[in-house]
Amino acid sequence: MTAPAPTLAGYERAARQQLDAPVWDFIDGGAERERTLAANRRAFERVSLRPRVLVDVSRCDTGVELLGARLRTPIGVAPTAYHQLAHPDGEIATARGAAAAGALFVVSIYASRSLEEIAAAVPGPRWMQLYWLRRREALADLVDRAAAAGCGAIVLTVDAPRLGRRHRDARNGFALGPGIRAANLDAALTATAHVAAAGRSALAVHAAEAVDPAVTWADLGWLRERSALPLVLKGILTAEDARLAVRHGADAVIVSNHGGRQLDGAPASLDALAEVVDAVGGACPVLLDGGVRGGTDAFAALALGARAVLLGRPVLWGLAADGAAGVSGVLDLMTEELAHTMALAGRPALASLDASAVTTGGGAR
Ligand code: FNR
Ligand code: LAC
Repeated sequence: MTAPAPTLAGYERAARQQLDAPVWDFIDGGAERERTLAANRRAFERVSLRPRVLVDVSRCDTGVELLGARLRTPIGVAPTAYHQLAHPDGEIATARGAAAAGALFVVSIYASRSLEEIAAAVPGPRWMQLYWLRRREALADLVDRAAAAGCGAIVLTVDAPRLGRRHRDARNGFALGPGIRAANLDAALTATAHVAAAGRSALAVHAAEAVDPAVTWADLGWLRERSALPLVLKGILTAEDARLAVRHGADAVIVSNHGGRQLDGAPASLDALAEVVDAVGGACPVLLDGGVRGGTDAFAALALGARAVLLGRPVLWGLAADGAAGVSGVLDLMTEELAHTMALAGRPALASLDASAVTTGGGAR
């Protein structure tokens, strides 16, 4: 008997079986009542696609250009913390899987493997995500190392001046075990992430200690001066902030609510996309993450103006299920689904995708 074709639901099931319950909760969970987490999915389910017919779709090209890099797929890997929670090889496996799929990998500041190890394993394309650390010298060091390790951009996550209240993690007293650590940060800087205590998340305690909640738009100039790398702002959800991002010279913005893990009650990413795209007015590329679970979701986001989309949890499912092969498996599955959707919707090139390819009124369900 041949094995059934892989599905995203299959990877999710395998990951859930594989992982300890508190790790599963950390990955799966959102903030507060998890309203935004649920909204991310609901927004995609409201979209239906408007197919055009009698178009030559003998070749469907999922390739895209992003900040000077040519990518085989517009579906990339969002920054997520501590990949060794999902697989012993951690970010090395993720990097290999992403490279095999021709996808962008955004490495988290909380990666459990060092930037240099990741760079030695695979060439990229890769970006580095940062939180604004209270210790400027540690931040400066990371920025320099990211450039030296061949990262193509710095992604500053701006939606987490403090960590969202994730009740599942608090209930589990979630903390990192001794074998897994933020490999790119000083051990002294991360000690609190390992101190378990009933009723609270050690990661939230650590973030409160390490991340500077006083940072504002005025501070971005320091980062700009410090690094020649393109600067991407992750966590933009309003036209006001999109305009500020452009005014402060952002090279790209990511429409994101952090997968519903930060401000509960924030809009679904897909619902915020049009206002951000409109406000940016073509000044820089707009990306989206949050709730993308299929090629049709990617198609919808791209039609509504995103240049690329990123996957958070699905990549961790692939990683937990089957290491690098699982990561490339998930990315390939989604990219094939996107190409298939492009063919059946009569949109063989991403450049010609526009809002007329979707409708949110009278959806498919
Ligand atoms: C995240 N996310 C995240 N974002 C970030 O900027 N830095 C980080 O270290 C992390 N860590 C992290 C851990 C885990 C377990 C998850 C699930 C998410 C948020 C991530 O980049 C992305 O915004 C969301 O995951 C996208 O939503 P989906 O695809 O998970 O629905
Ligand atoms: C998270 C942090 C680490 O979402 O960004 O878990």
